[in-house]
Amino acid sequence: MLTQQEILNWLREKDPEKIHELIESADRLRGQTVGNAVHFRGLIELSSWCRRNCLYCGIRAFRTDLVRYRMTKEEVLECAKTAFDFGYGTVVIQAAEDPGISESFISEIIQEIKERYSLAVTLSLGERKESEWIRWKEAGADRYLLRFETSNQKLYEAIHPKAPDTIYPNRFALLRKLREIGYEVGSGVMIGIPGQNMSDLARDIELFHELDLDMIGCGPFLAHPATPLGSLTGDPVKDAEIRSKYHLPEAEEQVESSNDMAFKVIALTRLVCPKANIPSTTAVATIDGKKGRVSGLSSGANVIMPNLTPTRYRALYEIYPNKAATFETAKQTHQTAMEQIESIGRTLGTGKGSRLH
Ligand code: 5AD
Repeated sequence: MLTQQEILNWLREKDPEKIHELIESADRLRGQTVGNAVHFRGLIELSSWCRRNCLYCGIRAFRTDLVRYRMTKEEVLECAKTAFDFGYGTVVIQAAEDPGISESFISEIIQEIKERYSLAVTLSLGERKESEWIRWKEAGADRYLLRFETSNQKLYEAIHPKAPDTIYPNRFALLRKLREIGYEVGSGVMIGIPGQNMSDLARDIELFHELDLDMIGCGPFLAHPATPLGSLTGDPVKDAEIRSKYHLPEAEEQVESSNDMAFKVIALTRLVCPKANIPSTTAVATIDGKKGRVSGLSSGANVIMPNLTPTRYRALYEIYPNKAATFETAKQTHQTAMEQIESIGRTLGTGKGSRLH
């Protein structure tokens, strides 16, 4: 196991040959542990209504100018059918933190999907009541995704203002709870959040191992102009004002938000969590539409999350600008993804792609 210092040294590494070696060894290990299959998780962006005001997110509650949507049960079931027809093993039901989503609405969707299709159901619905998490597990949900975003507590608190009923100062206790309830648990972080130190990111990666996560999804931070973090311009005076207004710490050694950094993080994550499911994320595909996703898959990742959301809703779920596949249909997104994995000699995973033990 790499130490935190060794992880940090790799994050700082600039020599292209050494970085290449790191990525190759992660890719090799990926082949040995989880093989050549790429598991497709069909992403359904259920609702863009949100009660939170995360400083990085394009659909934060304060954006009153946005048109918001919430899909119907029938629309979600239609997406699940598409996932099944495409041969996917999993659907991911994701939403902003929407109080208009009731426990029973989600329970019914889970039950119907499970009755009709052999699909794993992953939920990604933010911080919800423990009682809801329990009911959804009982209804048949298999997995839950909740990124901890950063292990730097001061930074987390600044970028993620609490809701009135928030009890925990970060997401670690919640991740433990999800595990106790019986979910396979996924988490992850953003790479290059303003204020994020290289040592914070090294600690994040070490935590992926310590938390024994089943899935780890990381992507570069992408500045959204309609958010406080997206208003940082590089102008020292203006930026200082924004930092002080939002109690945003300054990084001594700021992480760069780039795909090169993301590929290193994917590779290091594979090395510390050999059997985990690791996606090549949409953020990586957003920075580089041509090669991003494939490069992630060649750096240790074994999962992708093709978007199945009906095209008419996609542009409204703009957590960051120019999100990959915004103007495509599910079919186009699927075809592109198939071509991408075939171009690197990988195959569509069969079965549900659960975590290997
Ligand atoms: N840039 C990159 N990732 C983002 N996310 C939200 N907003 C952004 C952004 N501006 C990520 C968060 C969240 C996930 C659903 O999307 O990590 O957990």
